[in-house]
Amino acid sequence: MHHNFNFKDVLSASSKASWEIEDVLPPGSALDFSKPFMPENLARTAAVPFLSAEEAKVLNQIRGHEYLALFGVVEEFVLPFVLDHARPQLDEDDHRVRALLGFANEEAKHIHLFRQFHALFTGSFGTPCGMIGPADAIGREVLRHDPLAVALVILMIEWMTQNHYLDSVKDDAELDPLFKSLLKHHWMEEAQHAKLDTLMVEALVEGRDDAGIERAIDEFLEIGAFLDAGLVDQSRMNLDSLEAATGRRLSARQRKALERQQHQALRWTYLGSGMIHPKFVASLEAISPAARDRIAAVAPIFA
Ligand SMILES: [Fe+2]
Ligand SMILES: [Fe+2]
Repeated sequence: MHHNFNFKDVLSASSKASWEIEDVLPPGSALDFSKPFMPENLARTAAVPFLSAEEAKVLNQIRGHEYLALFGVVEEFVLPFVLDHARPQLDEDDHRVRALLGFANEEAKHIHLFRQFHALFTGSFGTPCGMIGPADAIGREVLRHDPLAVALVILMIEWMTQNHYLDSVKDDAELDPLFKSLLKHHWMEEAQHAKLDTLMVEALVEGRDDAGIERAIDEFLEIGAFLDAGLVDQSRMNLDSLEAATGRRLSARQRKALERQQHQALRWTYLGSGMIHPKFVASLEAISPAARDRIAAVAPIFA
């Protein structure tokens, strides 16, 4: 066994970590637009040679907007998936039912919080920023796949948020404190979700033969490719927003180079940093070494 997660422990850890939206976003809160919102490891905006420091900061803040928007999208398919997973066995294990319903409730709270942050951002940034969507259409496309493939995508994403906070956000003293607090509070609850995802994946693997597992990995990669196409669109929208917000007109060559560089930054943020998370890899390994190897083979594309 590569873990010791169980519903009872998650349930008690969740109630200790729990917070209210007002704790994160008290009335009168404001974002500080003199600071970056995203850690450079994820944003990769300071490294662009032809952007001024001010333009790099604005693009970083637009990446913060994108993070709010894309997590909104993700959480809108996590919520129904978890409810559907809980529904068939409501009378078997009380800890299981309460832990999964708590998970769904927290995800609904996250959607609410991300929306409020999004409104705060758009209300003060001054330029409208594009976002892919609509969220329910993206969610429908993801959810039409094999439930094991969807559960693996969710497992990858929730471990990924642990990486984002611990590796990049926690010790970054430059970030806007309000945005940093959002990422911290999200991380606190996602840590328990990732454990529940691990248990969901195990339940969905039960009784599958090798061919069934291979099909789920095919579909996992299919969902990954679908999300990656969305990241291409989102990185272009981000650059449209940058040009609109700063008045900077990028040359055709700069625009193309920046689109490629930023697409790669989004790939790392939303796919690559999850694919290589040791706990995600351990879950794959437990399912099948072949599944682990297939994901390991594509992970460098998203680095
Ligand atoms: Fe969440
Ligand atoms: Fe979550």
